Amino acid sequence: MTPARFLLLSYLISCAAAWSTITVSHTEGQDDTPALAAALATGKFSTNATILFAKGTKYNIFTPLKFPTFTNVEVRIEGNLSYPSDIATVQNLVGSSSFPGAWFTFTGGTNVTLRGSTDDDWGWVDGHGQAWWDANEQTNRPHGWAFSKITTGVIRDMKLWKPVAWNFATSGSKNIHAYNNKIVAASDTGSFPFNTDGFSAGGTDMLFENNHIQNGDDCLTVGSGAKNIHFRNSVCAGGHGVSIGSLGNGGSVADVQNVLIENVVMKDSLYGARFKSWTGGNGLARNITWKNIAFTNVMFPIYVTQNYWDQGTGPRPNSSSTNNTHIQDFLFENFVGTINDKPGFVEGSCVSDPCWYSVEGATGKEVVIFDLYPNTATNIVAKHIVATTDTFSPVRAMCNSSTISTDVGFKCWDGLFIPTAKGRL
Ligand SMILES: *[C@@H]1O[C@H](CO)[C@@H](O)[C@H](O)[C@H]1NC(C)=O
Ligand SMILES: *[C@@H]1O[C@H](CO)[C@@H](O)[C@H](O)[C@H]1NC(C)=O
Ligand SMILES: *[C@@H]1O[C@H](CO)[C@@H](O)[C@H](O)[C@H]1NC(C)=O
Ligand SMILES: *[C@@H]1O[C@H](CO)[C@@H](O)[C@H](O)[C@H]1NC(C)=O
Ligand SMILES: *[C@@H]1O[C@H](CO)[C@@H](O)[C@H](O)[C@H]1NC(C)=O
Ligand SMILES: *[C@@H]1O[C@H](CO)[C@@H](O)[C@H](O)[C@H]1NC(C)=O
Ligand SMILES: *[C@@H]1O[C@H](CO)[C@@H](O)[C@H](O)[C@H]1NC(C)=O
Repeated sequence: MTPARFLLLSYLISCAAAWSTITVSHTEGQDDTPALAAALATGKFSTNATILFAKGTKYNIFTPLKFPTFTNVEVRIEGNLSYPSDIATVQNLVGSSSFPGAWFTFTGGTNVTLRGSTDDDWGWVDGHGQAWWDANEQTNRPHGWAFSKITTGVIRDMKLWKPVAWNFATSGSKNIHAYNNKIVAASDTGSFPFNTDGFSAGGTDMLFENNHIQNGDDCLTVGSGAKNIHFRNSVCAGGHGVSIGSLGNGGSVADVQNVLIENVVMKDSLYGARFKSWTGGNGLARNITWKNIAFTNVMFPIYVTQNYWDQGTGPRPNSSSTNNTHIQDFLFENFVGTINDKPGFVEGSCVSDPCWYSVEGATGKEVVIFDLYPNTATNIVAKHIVATTDTFSPVRAMCNSSTISTDVGFKCWDGLFIPTAKGRL
């Protein structure tokens, strides 16, 4: 053996030797978090390790699980995991001062993988959300998975069953790939799964793909600070669209850049593509594209507002601000589908009259609504938009031409949707 080969071989052996695997233990009827937390506290599984929830085991995650800072660690969920089914138990834990912020928390670290199972019968995480939705219980609801401040991370093959509320959040992380994940936040009883957001993207350099999300809020939400976010080849059903924002709340300075959302099937949703920034905000959202979106039964396929406010607090404020979150280079391209304009239809999240999502002056037949703030929007274009309404009445648009000076790809008025040459190109 040559010295070089010998060195390579010893290196490979030392690498192999350095890998640790722990199979998480389970005790019937007990909470499995404390034993795992104790094993993790030894530090033996913080680097170069696999943490395995074994197939064939039904684990009880009855208290929140906060993982240590990991380097080269994979958490594999091949068994079934269950939250407590009792609402009050969860509320007490979420309300306590020691609650880490999510039921499952990963924060910091490098090369961290959260991996579920491709076996249909195993690898599900059951949040028992149905009882919460039925009771319309919104006090002390847990966030699901915090995947924060991680450099190089993977979330794959995860399957969430009836989560109580918010699912994955990647705030402050960098270089994340999230794929083949499934979220089933669908109610069987007609109650509404409020705030069951799918992915909250709050970092840089992220690719979300091949995810299937059925829920009652944003499928994807992109927050301030996000840059280079790519979301593609996914299905979003039942929720509130692929959204940027809300940005600029309380006059804050927003910064979102380079977002590409493409090849998405949107079904039975309130919104398709959405952007919202608060009245009186500041900062910039630029270079955001939504393209190749197929939508069925969607109420607001394209909705942009720079005048967002909390409808719960009363009528739209008469803003005295002379500025707003600027938007620049927005493109909505290749949207094909049907608008839900069924007479009397009320989306499940509507609990007031008028509904929180109602737009003054809208007819429900708008394929696009651009509610812009004067002198703060440039180069926002919708092109190749093909839609019909469920009632076969003509498709409309809402746009105020005194809020934007550039061609938006359709006649900017409150009237029929009429593409301009730019919108047909
Ligand atoms: C982890 O593995 C890497 C090789 O992948 C090695 O360089 C490093 O020393 C290992 N760290 C520990 C703490 O074993
Ligand atoms: C990253 O972690 C995975 C395990 O999840 C491991 O197989 C891989 O070698 C690690 N990458 C590096 C560069 O250490
Ligand atoms: C695992 O959990 C899912 C979701 O609750 C359930 O449908 C499935 O039957 C469970 N698997 C087994 C083997 O019980
Ligand atoms: C716009 O964003 C895309 C990613 O969606 C990126 O590839 C492109 O370089 C960005 N363009 C500019 C001018 O920043
Ligand atoms: C308005 O906001 C933009 C974007 O943040 C900023 O560049 C500009 O300086 C602001 N103008 C005023 C008058 O505050
Ligand atoms: C805003 O101004 C209009 C017209 O002056 C007025 O009718 C409305 O009540 C005002 N809204 C609020 C929230 O003050
Ligand atoms: C259009 O926008 C201008 C400028 O903000 C505003 O003064 C006007 O009231 C708006 N028109 C309608 C119909 O909303």
